[in-house]
Amino acid sequence: MQHSSEHFPAHNTRYGAVARLFHWAVVLLLVGEYSLAWLMPDIHKGTQPAGLIAWHLAIGPLILSVMLLRLGWRSAVGTPEPHPGVAWQELASKLTHGLLYVLLLVLPLLGWINASTRGWSISLLGIPLPALASQGSTVGRDLGEWHSTLAYIVLGLIGLHVSAAFYHHWVRKDGLLARMWG
Ligand code: HEM
Ligand code: HEM
Repeated sequence: MQHSSEHFPAHNTRYGAVARLFHWAVVLLLVGEYSLAWLMPDIHKGTQPAGLIAWHLAIGPLILSVMLLRLGWRSAVGTPEPHPGVAWQELASKLTHGLLYVLLLVLPLLGWINASTRGWSISLLGIPLPALASQGSTVGRDLGEWHSTLAYIVLGLIGLHVSAAFYHHWVRKDGLLARMWG
């Protein structure tokens, strides 16, 4: 009781400022990361990690770190009371949010594995990170190939999540968006 009222003084129905900052920072980073993924040249054997590819490799680990910080913050501070609604929709939102958290860790890790098998070095804001697979590793390559596929699965989940947000905003008009916005 003490714990939650400290962080959500106003009836505990909204996400705190830090949780909202994390949410919208990840949205912006993902817009950038998907745009780069589609604009960057096709990657073949021997492609150099330069230009837009280098940007994709730089923003990816940033997304992974922000997601880790965000999960840490969430488990420390908690979440507001669930939004009152239909039981199956509450379950669906829990599942979607849970999958988004898990897959937004797995997705960058697979990209990192893919990069490592190509012999590309990865860094976080200039700090070099270790390789997750040895160059040319077949297991690493097979795992890394799932990166692009998973990116589209995550995009589908995001589509579902955003549709649900607009359904609440425009159809149900129940103020759900305000929990995460402004
Ligand atoms: C959540 C973060 C990320 C998203 C949404 C994302 C998205 C994508 C997408 C959609 C593609 C496919 C591009 C295409 O179809 O042509 C791709 C390719 C790729 N990404 Fe990511 N990526 C992320 C993080 C990372 C990270 C962290 C790394 C490496 C450190 C990385 C490395 C790569 C590589 C090497 C490819 C080329 C794969 C290939 O063609 O074999 N990505 N990414
Ligand atoms: C890249 C896209 C997005 C991702 C990955 C994402 C991810 C998430 C996650 C994981 C949560 C759960 C937060 C928690 O309980 O810790 C959440 C909540 C929420 N998101 Fe997003 N989101 C995205 C885009 C959007 C957009 C565009 C909107 C609005 C149009 C939005 C509106 C909301 C709202 C209102 C909540 C709170 C839901 C509730 O309280 O039940 N999100 N989002």
